[in-house]
Amino acid sequence: MATPRILSGIQPTGNLHLGNYLGAIRNWVSLQQDYDCFLFMADLHAITVPYDPKQLAENVRKVAATYIACGIDPERSTIFVQSQLSAHSELAWLLNCITPLNWLERMIQFKEKALKQGENVSVGLQNYPVLQAADILLYEPDLVPVGEDQKQHLELTRDIATRLNFQFGSEAQPVLKLPEPLILKAGARVMSLSDGSKKMSKSDPSELSRIDLTDSPELLQKKIKKCKTDPERGLEFDNPARPECHNLLNLYMILSGQEKTAVAAECAEMGWGQFKPLLTETLQTALRPIRDKYDQVMAEPGYLDQVLAQGRERADVVASETLGRVKAAMGF
Ligand code: TRP
Repeated sequence: MATPRILSGIQPTGNLHLGNYLGAIRNWVSLQQDYDCFLFMADLHAITVPYDPKQLAENVRKVAATYIACGIDPERSTIFVQSQLSAHSELAWLLNCITPLNWLERMIQFKEKALKQGENVSVGLQNYPVLQAADILLYEPDLVPVGEDQKQHLELTRDIATRLNFQFGSEAQPVLKLPEPLILKAGARVMSLSDGSKKMSKSDPSELSRIDLTDSPELLQKKIKKCKTDPERGLEFDNPARPECHNLLNLYMILSGQEKTAVAAECAEMGWGQFKPLLTETLQTALRPIRDKYDQVMAEPGYLDQVLAQGRERADVVASETLGRVKAAMGF
């Protein structure tokens, strides 16, 4: 039997942070053992909101290097750049023409992002989920590991595929395979260091709100020193009135590899003055190997280009096949 396939991607819109690692990349690393993983940099998605063209290509490389630094093995997994495979844009167009406009108007993430953009909302932003459907459907993955916030886009992908199969295929011969979402568990949700009720985010204007995977030990120390806490003594999980406390304990728990009960007991009597150095050290230890590997990957001339060229080649075999089948079914 063929190894089941996984596909996922991240937008290269800045440095990757701890939330990207704990919520996504870390899971891909373990999924690599049992799945054929296709992992990409969604640079075509990154241009749906205002961006700096001078930084786009460099951001793509940084994300690729981070994947490898976190433990994605380029021999085992396929790492590629979305924009290097024109099949993504081409299938997106074909899917556009069978997707009802009102399906896109319902997308929660579009509404949220559009609100932030004010007047300057591009057609591309509205179209974003159709491109994402193309990303997914091209590779016929068995599973698509994503965060809770992408669930609606996965459902839309399945709806689009079902519609295309209905209009252009037959029950005996569906054109596209329906992917299953693998919604990663909420325990890995990492919150902002400045507000424990908001997700850690690349787009937060404050650097101090997030921990980048390549932060130096000194910067990690500074960020933890300045992060938001509360005036209470004794640390606890799951108190809705203390979101920062829960988030920081959760980080300590995951990064130190301990059970929740053990951490709860260890920190029950602690004050922040005692906990912060402990968390800082745990972070420094956990991130050191990632940072070292990242520097090594970025310093080796030609290495990343070679990984991405190989990824592109492998991805192209699968993507071209699917695109050809869809085009034939649609009458081209
Ligand atoms: N929209 C995803 C995000 O912001 C990124 C993405 C683009 C993606 N295409 C994808 C994720 C295909 C999974 C599969 O997180």
